[in-house]
Amino acid sequence: MIGAGYVGLVTGTCLAKLGFDVLCLDTDAERVAALKGGRSPIYEPGLDALMEKQVAEGRLRFDRFEPKGVARADFVFLAVGTPSLPGSDEADLSQIFDATRMVAPQLRPGACLVVKSTVPAGTNSAIRAIVSDRRPELAFSVVSNPEFLREGRAVEDFLRPDRIVVGCHDAAGRAGMERIYRSFMEQSVPVVFTTPENAELIKYAANAFLAMKVAFANEVSDLCEATGGDVRDVVRGIGLDARIGPSFLQPGPGFGGSCFPKDTRAFVDIGRRLGRPQRLVEAVVAINEDRKESLASRVSEALGSCAGKTIAILGVAFKPDTDDLREAPALRLIPALVEAGAAVRFYDPQVDADGVSELEGADQAPSLAAALEGADAAVLVTEWAEFRMLDLVSARRRMSGATFIDFRNVYSREAMDEAGFLYHPIGSAPLRDDARSPEQAGSGRRQRQAVGDGQVAVG
Ligand code: UDX
Ligand code: UDX
Repeated sequence: MIGAGYVGLVTGTCLAKLGFDVLCLDTDAERVAALKGGRSPIYEPGLDALMEKQVAEGRLRFDRFEPKGVARADFVFLAVGTPSLPGSDEADLSQIFDATRMVAPQLRPGACLVVKSTVPAGTNSAIRAIVSDRRPELAFSVVSNPEFLREGRAVEDFLRPDRIVVGCHDAAGRAGMERIYRSFMEQSVPVVFTTPENAELIKYAANAFLAMKVAFANEVSDLCEATGGDVRDVVRGIGLDARIGPSFLQPGPGFGGSCFPKDTRAFVDIGRRLGRPQRLVEAVVAINEDRKESLASRVSEALGSCAGKTIAILGVAFKPDTDDLREAPALRLIPALVEAGAAVRFYDPQVDADGVSELEGADQAPSLAAALEGADAAVLVTEWAEFRMLDLVSARRRMSGATFIDFRNVYSREAMDEAGFLYHPIGSAPLRDDARSPEQAGSGRRQRQAVGDGQVAVG
């Protein structure tokens, strides 16, 4: 396994669990040192225990990247990074091609090179050319086997995939993948055998479509805000249509992570370069960028002004159950709030913010309670389970202000109202009324009288 990042480490560990003898190689010395010390450099539920067991049983090893490390391998997986080129939408394939050039001289006859990383259509044949140029006599195959692992549930997504996609040109490549995925095929997990180009496109198109669903939900959410609607009911109402489906329709602060942002940009870039513009996905990229840019102004609108206010940010990882900060919405929100003169503190159960430049102007709180203490406002950005269980009444008492902005619609309006918050969900009207003092918070249900078509809290 070349590359022990989110994908390489999870894939290597799970292949060891399936009984394969796995050697994970990485150029990052720190990462290798952590792995050799039995510590996973990434947070992924279930990975530590799984890694420990495979290492103990001698099927999983880690080492610094050394070309000769692949000399005995039947399969060489490439799971190195394919980020966007700086200042461009194009995928940076330098890591993939560097790794290919380095392993080519060492590949054994019959070796199967497996491209795990997300790469534009045509990369598989470029990799094949690099190897055959160097080893004209070698019998080998290059297979495209994209991953569909979601961070925070990557082990589960590997062990229980909806489908496996394999792009290969020759029988040897197909036989190799049938050997790797035999146990899945015996459980009749669907395997799509197709060309490498199709496999490469499937990966991008899948992520682009999922990102489009999210962007659609975010725009509908804005429409609900302007029409007195409630996006929770709207997405539930459309998601029950089996053709639409409920997943990836939850509005939020915009998508982040190491995949959606770069894969949608790369997809747009491929379309542009081939004269087949992907206008829908171009819109998805723009919608998402604008949304992340708009987060701070949503906070300012709710607060009147941010200057001099203390704001608690709940969650900075791009989504729960991961420590990954790549393209996280909080990295756009926090600097903008600091710029607007707010005193910002943030709490996240997993993220270590040391050295993250975007977070330098803010303080990392050691706990949720510490983040809320004396804050004028709270802003939920990442829907960690810990935040769902927040005792709202005591939270209100800890804070000095009553404003709570919920970018993930985690809380119910009623519970927020009970606790005395000025609650600002997304996709529905904020709770606007007098902000009761902390003492009054939680003093039972208010008297309500229905006035016209709305409910007005009195007293
Ligand atoms: C990667 C791709 O970025 C993504 O497009 C694809 O969907 C899945 O694989 P990820 O595993 O998150 O995602 O990449 P990253 O976390 O950056 O890990 C890549 C690892 O490869 C790093 O640890 C890096 O040190 C290592 N690497 C890079 C090598 O070992 N050798 C190289 O030549 C280059
Ligand atoms: C994604 C794909 O799901 C996975 O198949 C692929 O292999 C890698 O990219 P990941 O990037 O880990 O996985 O995160 P995912 O769970 O897909 O969420 C992506 C972003 O969309 C996150 O920022 C998340 O907060 C956001 N999202 C997701 C929403 O805002 N609403 C939703 O309903 C779902």
